[in-house]
Amino acid sequence: MRILSLLLTLPILSQAFVAPASSSTSQYSFGLQVVSEENNDVHIHNIIENNIDQSRRNVFQSAAATALGFATMASQSQMQPAMAATGDVKKVLVLGATGFVGSQVCAKLKSLGIEVVGTSRDGRVGTSSLDFMDSSKQVAKEVEALAAGCDAVVSCIGSIGTPNDGQINAGTGLAAVGAKAAGVKRFVYVSVAPEVRDATQGISFLKDYMKGKTSSEQFIRQNFESSYMLIEPTFIYGGDTFNLNPPRVAGFYGQFVESVLSSGLFRAAAKVSPGIIGIALEPPISVQDVAGAAVAGVFGYSSPVLDTYDKIREASASLN
Ligand SMILES: NC(=O)c1ccc[n+]([C@@H]2O[C@H](COP(=O)([O-])OP(=O)(O)OC[C@H]3O[C@@H](n4cnc5c(N)ncnc54)[C@H](OP(=O)(O)O)[C@@H]3O)[C@@H](O)[C@H]2O)c1
Repeated sequence: MRILSLLLTLPILSQAFVAPASSSTSQYSFGLQVVSEENNDVHIHNIIENNIDQSRRNVFQSAAATALGFATMASQSQMQPAMAATGDVKKVLVLGATGFVGSQVCAKLKSLGIEVVGTSRDGRVGTSSLDFMDSSKQVAKEVEALAAGCDAVVSCIGSIGTPNDGQINAGTGLAAVGAKAAGVKRFVYVSVAPEVRDATQGISFLKDYMKGKTSSEQFIRQNFESSYMLIEPTFIYGGDTFNLNPPRVAGFYGQFVESVLSSGLFRAAAKVSPGIIGIALEPPISVQDVAGAAVAGVFGYSSPVLDTYDKIREASASLN
């Protein structure tokens, strides 16, 4: 059992020794994969400048290691797909289109023949520039202009471990105000799981991140009443590399861990386990499922808050 656990944790733990301990640069981004989509304008080469200190690393490391270390049995959970109400969606604005999740959302929308307007901070790879930290511009006004003629907005913007986490993660709330002013019908936000919020309450470096997310969610609820979707994942896996911060595993390996942790035994254990252990026992969700859920949200999927692994899977499955 111990040997198996060690084998399972090896790929993640090995990152502890290769990841830079700190850096003088300020940006740590949630997505660190290189994700490329064929037939997609947005090719992502998201380079991480990691300035997370050792204590931060330890928080994520222990959660990721526990998640993988507990994996011993496999049986897929049975999903009950619900049908998404497909609307007449022609054009969608994706905020954070260059990110790990955002790039997949763009790819899915485009594969369905939907026109996509994407943003990044610097307007690279065919995106429009939108930087929540640019004090010379008003986020709401910028988004109002970008969202003109769009049926829906999906925000995949996030930042963690920077001095600006509060402002960046709250920025999606202001974007919702702009989207509403532009007459957009639906707003979808990839946020974070409530149990992560609860478990990390005492962790000071995550305080601003969580505050920002909470603020954005409030603005979205206020502006979009019954026509929003909040997607709240714990861990997201995908791509072809392992990394420690955030604790993301490559697609092939994440799939295996997902199948193990989605067994009844582990689901039950996750529900009754406290804090970070419970989070570690939640199955990681694939980036394709998160993107699929977001697209279901664009089409008017009936559930406004996807705050569990199962709900995200179900929403994604509704597209099939
Ligand atoms: N990845 C996970 O395991 C995980 C788990 C739970 C929740 N989430 C949440 O899921 C969402 C998507 O995560 P992700 O992994 O796809 O993130 P990501 O790969 O780091 O992408 C972040 C996106 O936000 C943009 N962005 C960053 N700072 C910005 C700013 N100041 N102004 C405007 N845009 C900015 C980035 O643009 P540039 O490319 O130009 O930098 C990028 O497009 C985030 O809200 C994150 O908090 C992620």
